[in-house]
Amino acid sequence: MSPTPALRGKHIVLGLSGGIACYKAAELARALGRAGASVQVVMTEAAERFITPMTMQALTGRPVFTSTWDAREASAMPHIALGREADAVVVAPASADFIARLAQGRADELLSLLCLARPAAACPLLVAPAMNREMWAHPATQRNVAQIIADGAVVLGPAAGDQACGEVGEGRMLEAQELCDAVEAAFQPKWLAGRSLLVTAGPTYEAIDPVRGITNRSSGKMGFAVARAAAEAGARVTLVAGPVHLATPQGVRRIDVRSAEQMLAAVLPEAPQHEIFVATAAVADWRPARHTEHKVKKDGSGRAPALELTENPDILATVARLPMGQRPWCVGFAAESQDLVRHARDKLVRKGVPLIVANLGPATFDRDDNVLVLVDAQGERELPGADKLTLARLLVQEIAARAPSAAA
Ligand code: CTP
Repeated sequence: MSPTPALRGKHIVLGLSGGIACYKAAELARALGRAGASVQVVMTEAAERFITPMTMQALTGRPVFTSTWDAREASAMPHIALGREADAVVVAPASADFIARLAQGRADELLSLLCLARPAAACPLLVAPAMNREMWAHPATQRNVAQIIADGAVVLGPAAGDQACGEVGEGRMLEAQELCDAVEAAFQPKWLAGRSLLVTAGPTYEAIDPVRGITNRSSGKMGFAVARAAAEAGARVTLVAGPVHLATPQGVRRIDVRSAEQMLAAVLPEAPQHEIFVATAAVADWRPARHTEHKVKKDGSGRAPALELTENPDILATVARLPMGQRPWCVGFAAESQDLVRHARDKLVRKGVPLIVANLGPATFDRDDNVLVLVDAQGERELPGADKLTLARLLVQEIAARAPSAAA
């Protein structure tokens, strides 16, 4: 099942100011289009030195605006018309000079003029800085960035790394997909604003010797989707991840672990610091009773060596038993191969948690889609088949409605 186009029906003004990162804006225009948005590009004169309006027109299917004096708008006021049509204005790349212009409220060219003239309450401004690391670190730029944030802009990045100028440092524009994800996030309702959520994800790996181990089938995708959806919904999110190859969602703090014991050790000090705990991890139920320092060799007898196992701690049940005041509101997952609701209800009681999210494990491993059944004391509710991010967003909404707020 392909993901629901999260930006369907949204109209984005994509503004380009001057910088080599303009080449990434071409990719961003495509990513926004793939996510369902219509994209209107506006370029400064400096941006035209780096990429042609023709390229951006071909990618978006719309002629590009570059001048305040463009007569194509019937009203002859493109700075007003473009801003009124837009659901968001995204400036990527935003040069040091352009950020300075925003901070001052300048209006002598089309892009800064339309940023100033847009209806700010209805049309968020997202700004993706891109510049040399010295320019980014300069107090003048930092002052300007602080000013535009205070004025309501959302600043995305920048990232650290190799720069076009050959230097290494902070100032690189985020990648196109990261920016597209951030635009999606800007449109998500803030169900968890001011709240905090801890999530475990992925499998655990229990070493037998240095080259072999026991693990569970789990891609970590559902847990990472929950972390992303919670962050998009405004929560402070900590993600404790077993061994998976997945990128950390933006704005999420990640702690990597390998074994169940390491996962428990990471979770225990974090649990009292969070209001909500979501255990999506497929924790290995057992680990080898003894860890062997060197590789276990065949002895030529044809017999396999005896493997004694010992049970792992139950992380969810341990957190659910923490004393009041230290215990977050707990959500468990149940991956079953049959009798979904019966097993889920059994886990609800056995683990002492208010909500279990059940899914058929073998049907969802490694896949991007899933069906979830929410089981609590009141009954059952199915979240019908969808991609994992869509389901995670619905789940976050359900959790927000059920979990009592510390502030309440
Ligand atoms: N869980 C956990 N620690 C464990 C085992 C499970 O935190 N040692 C959590 C999982 O993250 C999940 C829930 O408990 O939220 C249920 O996990 P699941 O593997 O479905 O159930 P088990 O408790 O392992 O029970 P069984 O193997 O009998 O299905």
